[in-house]
Amino acid sequence: MQISFVPLSVSVKGALVLGVGETGTFSGKTAEVDRRSGGALGRAMGVSKFSGNAGQILEIVAPAGIDASRIVLAGLGKAEKFDERTAERLAANVLGRLFASGEKTVTFAIDMPRGAKLNGAALGAHLALGARLRSYTFNKYRTKNLDDHAPSVTEIAVATSAAAAAKRAYAPLDAIADGIFLARDLVNEPPNVLSPMEFARRAKKTLERAGVRLRVLGENEMKKLGMGALLGVGQGSDRESQLVTMEWDGTKRSNVPPVALVGKGVCFDSGGLSLKTGAGMMGMKGDMGGAAAVAGTILALATRKARVHVVGVVGLVENMPDGKAQRPDDVVKSMSGQTIEVLNTDAEGRLVLADALWYVQSQYKPKCIVDLATLTGAILIALGHEHAGLFSNDDTLAERLSASGRAEGEPVWRLPLGDAYDKALKSRIADMKNIGGPHAGSITAAQFLQRFVDKTAWAHLDIAGVAWRDAEQKEHSPSWATGWGVRILNRLVADYYEK
Ligand code: BES
Ligand code: MN
Ligand code: ZN
Repeated sequence: MQISFVPLSVSVKGALVLGVGETGTFSGKTAEVDRRSGGALGRAMGVSKFSGNAGQILEIVAPAGIDASRIVLAGLGKAEKFDERTAERLAANVLGRLFASGEKTVTFAIDMPRGAKLNGAALGAHLALGARLRSYTFNKYRTKNLDDHAPSVTEIAVATSAAAAAKRAYAPLDAIADGIFLARDLVNEPPNVLSPMEFARRAKKTLERAGVRLRVLGENEMKKLGMGALLGVGQGSDRESQLVTMEWDGTKRSNVPPVALVGKGVCFDSGGLSLKTGAGMMGMKGDMGGAAAVAGTILALATRKARVHVVGVVGLVENMPDGKAQRPDDVVKSMSGQTIEVLNTDAEGRLVLADALWYVQSQYKPKCIVDLATLTGAILIALGHEHAGLFSNDDTLAERLSASGRAEGEPVWRLPLGDAYDKALKSRIADMKNIGGPHAGSITAAQFLQRFVDKTAWAHLDIAGVAWRDAEQKEHSPSWATGWGVRILNRLVADYYEK
């Protein structure tokens, strides 16, 4: 997809997108086009339900007197509510409508609604971001009916009086979109293709080009480090487990303690010997969504050359049943030295994270840690697809994440931690067991992780409900995988840790 920012005056090929405010009256560019087409826009509105509400779209094919092949009217809604997110949703909705329409070029010529909160450059940049996010496809495994799926739109132009400033404002957003697309690609990829080693190879290929330093540990190295919790999970798989570290240092100083991002990378979760049902196993290729979000965020930060030191660590395993697989009742020893009675092999994400969390603390002494994991089905019961679950031992970090999520349209909801919940992890024979009781499953899972955090400010995001969508898609997330996490983490870094 080619994206450009052009001056308002140029005549337009292809689809021309114009804004209409909540009152339904025309102004600026919209009024001008209506005049030049002899009132065609007003007549079209008169015979439709389109009134200018946010989210509404009205397509008008080729009125005489203008160069464009069609006009698309987009509702702007209430001016005081019009912000970056509204602009993104608008562009994404319009692009979704036109993506496979046969139209090649889409030009947005949206006048800022009077009283809106953003400036012209930001408006242009966020229209471009919304359109780009909506342009994502994952068609590499189709061999038939390619025409039905092939996008026709190849060019997006944003017409604005602030073209140069909009282009500058868009550059970092384009890096975020790169990160989101990487995360979506990794999550959409089928599990026969994306093994732990293949994930590591792709991360290496994509991130090293952006200037990120990568280190990949295999099973032998992890054995030497004592990572019995992570290794136990991968034990039943023919594919070798991997631990990948991705380090981006955009500070020009040495010894700045990094922000650490840790991701659950279960490339396929069958449940292991505590086998899932057939239906429960579907979608479990996405159980590496936390690791994908970490890789995507590091790519975004490196691409936009963020002035920050970050280190991402992802534990990559495949959880399979086998003669060599870990059994319910096994006891494993984690890198921290603590022993774990594995009573359910399907509670595997926390075992992977236990060693990844300990590793990042002992190697990097980070100033804070955020982990992301598709950790529990219970978080879907509590929060559905609308919020990720947030757990933290640090109120400041929790507040920062909440604010970042709100600002980026990736909202999180904080749930409690506490000793009373921690008791549920008592084991008859080891330091802890890997499951709690029947209740508060997302909290007891977080409580388990906290046992592997040593005083560092830490937050855990349970993203099982937001990493992918089986049902209705969101405006700027057209594929099964959402790429959730890149935006909230990038914003957290930008607002609180970047110098
Ligand atoms: N990967 C799953 C959690 C999950 C479930 C993610 C559904 C997305 C959709 C995780 O490894 C798991 O199996 N958790 C168990 C924990 C239980 C055995 C304590 C669960 O949630 O049922
Ligand atoms: Mn599981
Ligand atoms: Zn899992």
